[in-house]
Amino acid sequence: MDADQPAGHPPVRVERRPVDEAESRHANGPDWDRYADEYQATHGEFLGDAGFVWGPEGLTEAEAGVLGAVADKDVLEVGSGAGQCSRCIRAQGALSYGLDLSIRQLQHSLRIDEDSGIAVPSVLGTATHLPFADDSFDVVFSSFGALQFVSDLERAIRETARVLRPGGRFAFSITHPTRWMFPDDPSEAGLLASQSYWDRTPYVEVDDATGQVAYVEHHRTLGDWVALLAGHGFVITDLLEPEWPEEHDRVWGGWSRVRGRLTPGTAIFGAVLAKR
Ligand SMILES: C[S@@+](CC[C@H](N)C(=O)[O-])C[C@H]1O[C@@H](n2cnc3c(N)ncnc32)[C@H](O)[C@@H]1O
Repeated sequence: MDADQPAGHPPVRVERRPVDEAESRHANGPDWDRYADEYQATHGEFLGDAGFVWGPEGLTEAEAGVLGAVADKDVLEVGSGAGQCSRCIRAQGALSYGLDLSIRQLQHSLRIDEDSGIAVPSVLGTATHLPFADDSFDVVFSSFGALQFVSDLERAIRETARVLRPGGRFAFSITHPTRWMFPDDPSEAGLLASQSYWDRTPYVEVDDATGQVAYVEHHRTLGDWVALLAGHGFVITDLLEPEWPEEHDRVWGGWSRVRGRLTPGTAIFGAVLAKR
């Protein structure tokens, strides 16, 4: 699934096997540290220093409107990377903060804070242990951030509900769950379903030299997401599946016009916390 892996990534073998939360975190933090420079060099211009796209299709929050009005709202971005999205809404008056597992991604965030003059206060942390008091935020969001890297998603959603105020909004984008069936290949070869949509066994890359897990992605079906959100008191308000714009010919990992014309690559959920 990790078609974004950098050239300098250690040689890995791909496996499918159960991986718990600690192992996922210990793999993905260092992986994003290694990858951050290349990620920002490759995608930084597309993302924009203070831009807000929900995924490789380029749908912006200004177009999608999933967060609602953000001015004067307390907002947390989970898996904020270099903070582009949070910076975008800070420029619109949101009191937005970032949280990310990768120190190198946060160093890029600081660099762009200084270059742009729009600073997003950010902390190093993980989606499953949010270092904030109950009822701290009006909005929590994640644009392709932490959620598909987390094993203990129950805990991450519970933490989100805890730090949100009642009536608060939760929005996130993820790889569209139907993509799990296909090889992560932007060409036509990536259009042939080759594994079960219902097989939740994580995608794992193991470092050939050390035998350590080097990268993990977790899969949930659309039904899993609905059950998780409803089970933590959220009412789902949006499920956007952005279409691939005809003129858009950018390839991002396994996302491309070839595949995007036929199958959804991104799912964006919006939900409101009705009760805890
Ligand atoms: C694809 S990037 C998305 C960041 C940003 N929205 C962007 O578009 O560049 C995914 C981010 O999630 C972070 N991440 C991965 N696992 C995480 C976790 N368990 N908790 C918090 N952040 C995590 C990574 O470090 C990385 O910065």
